Amino acid sequence: METPTMKPDTVLILDYGSQYTHLITRRIRSLNVFSLVISGTSSLKSITSYNPRVVILSGGPHSVHALDAPSFPEGFIEWAESNGVPVLGICYGLQLIVQKLGGVVVEGESKEYGKMEIEVKGKSEIFGSESGGEKQMVWMSHGDEAVKLPEGFEVVAQSAQGAVAALENRKKKIYGLQYHPEVTHSPKGMETLRHFLFDVCGVSADWKMEDLMEEEIKVINKTVASDEHVICALSGGVDSTVAATLVHKAIGDRLHCIFVDNGLLRYKEQERVMDTFERDLHLPVTCVDASVRFLSELKGVVDPETKRKIIGKEFINIFDQFAQELEKKYGKKPAFLVQGTLYPDVIESCPPPGTDRTHSHTIKSHHNVGGLPKDMKLKLIEPLKLLFKDEVRELGRILNVPVGFLKRHPFPGPGLAVRVLGDVTQGNALEVLRQVDEIFIQSIRDAGLYDSIWQAFAVFLPVRSVGVQGDKRTHSHVVALRAVTSQDGMTADWFNFEHKFLDDVSRKICNSVQGVNRVVLDITSKPPSTIEWE
Ligand code: XMP
Repeated sequence: METPTMKPDTVLILDYGSQYTHLITRRIRSLNVFSLVISGTSSLKSITSYNPRVVILSGGPHSVHALDAPSFPEGFIEWAESNGVPVLGICYGLQLIVQKLGGVVVEGESKEYGKMEIEVKGKSEIFGSESGGEKQMVWMSHGDEAVKLPEGFEVVAQSAQGAVAALENRKKKIYGLQYHPEVTHSPKGMETLRHFLFDVCGVSADWKMEDLMEEEIKVINKTVASDEHVICALSGGVDSTVAATLVHKAIGDRLHCIFVDNGLLRYKEQERVMDTFERDLHLPVTCVDASVRFLSELKGVVDPETKRKIIGKEFINIFDQFAQELEKKYGKKPAFLVQGTLYPDVIESCPPPGTDRTHSHTIKSHHNVGGLPKDMKLKLIEPLKLLFKDEVRELGRILNVPVGFLKRHPFPGPGLAVRVLGDVTQGNALEVLRQVDEIFIQSIRDAGLYDSIWQAFAVFLPVRSVGVQGDKRTHSHVVALRAVTSQDGMTADWFNFEHKFLDDVSRKICNSVQGVNRVVLDITSKPPSTIEWE
């Protein structure tokens, strides 16, 4: 008989659109407690289906007085109370509790944004019995404020300006923090969250990556029948590699991976990643060298969107062919496709007001190389869909994916096609770019800067400028260097190299790469620029 799997305690977060919602989830997970985000307007049925130990109502940009102010469903508070599920409202979440339970929230006279001192009043559960009279700095970001609390609630901390900073109703187990405990600007915030979850709510810290891995392996084995085959396209990036390694651990060589060399890869990329796949990870990978096909389709194409479309279409053709070959070989169509989808891509969030968006999945359309044909009828296996990027890296470590590989900077699906401006087949643009990029990245590694940079690369510009090299006049190409810091690639800042580093790299490039006589540095953030140039 199968032993029933113990589900870890779950802290469910109802999202009301705060930019920090994901951070709360990550902070809680870092305490080895499983946490999930769902939309703040989810139905009661959906909320209770997660069987949460604790529910947190996030912050958000709305005012509780707005006509379309998002809120938890009817009966939620009653359900929580009768099931002994503690509720914590943060910022907007606190105001929602106050307003819905009969208190009064008004537009504050003075809005509180940024760092603020608060004082803990008397005895409270959320701060602990020892904390009375304590002062701490916290991060506030609100316009409205609670001026009259619902019955049974007590103010347990006040801001220096006299506003309600924390409240609780110990009997009903409902708590509220007007500030953001999850951000580092609230130095004692993590301590408060930890105390709240473990001491006040009695949550168990029983969520471990090893358990998640074992659980996923069981699920994959249950999903894929013993005579079925699974395919996976490896990009050479962290997500698809970790996903494939996990599936391989579950079903062995019924997993079939494909790695496509589209002729747009970096210097020695094919050898390097194939080495990791085969030697380190023992993954069954077919490497298809399709560079001639891709490059002939791209000949003469200068429009970046057209480039992406051509690359996407060609990729699908090759993938389709791969599936057909497998069918011939095994007498059965592959039934499943592994994808390295991550949690931020599947979270259903409350959209900010005025965006005209309804709750929707985050879609970074121009980053996807194109969907697979519907008639392939592949069912998806997405073993990473509950994980954040840093958690995928941790899982990768457990699966023995080399650490150097796990720390690789992201690389776009369309490869160097979005780094050669204009026609990628003109002259020897790709070859020049490969050499320049290799020198730049190697110099970054040698300087010990690789892990401090989110992404770095070189760009080939289709313009020539005049130079003088070895007493001769040259008319050669310009390359640009770009390095950025970022959290998630949605916004980015340019990395500030030291003068000497830039001087050395520029010299190295001009001295060793034929056809380049000028190196420029990209000093724009995103926005207004994107990270890639095309
Ligand atoms: P941008 O240039 O949009 O890049 O600021 C943000 C992140 O996404 C990567 N990127 C892509 N990835 N296909 C991909 O798979 C693409 O077409 C694409 N365009 C950009 C980029 O490298 C950066 O990590």
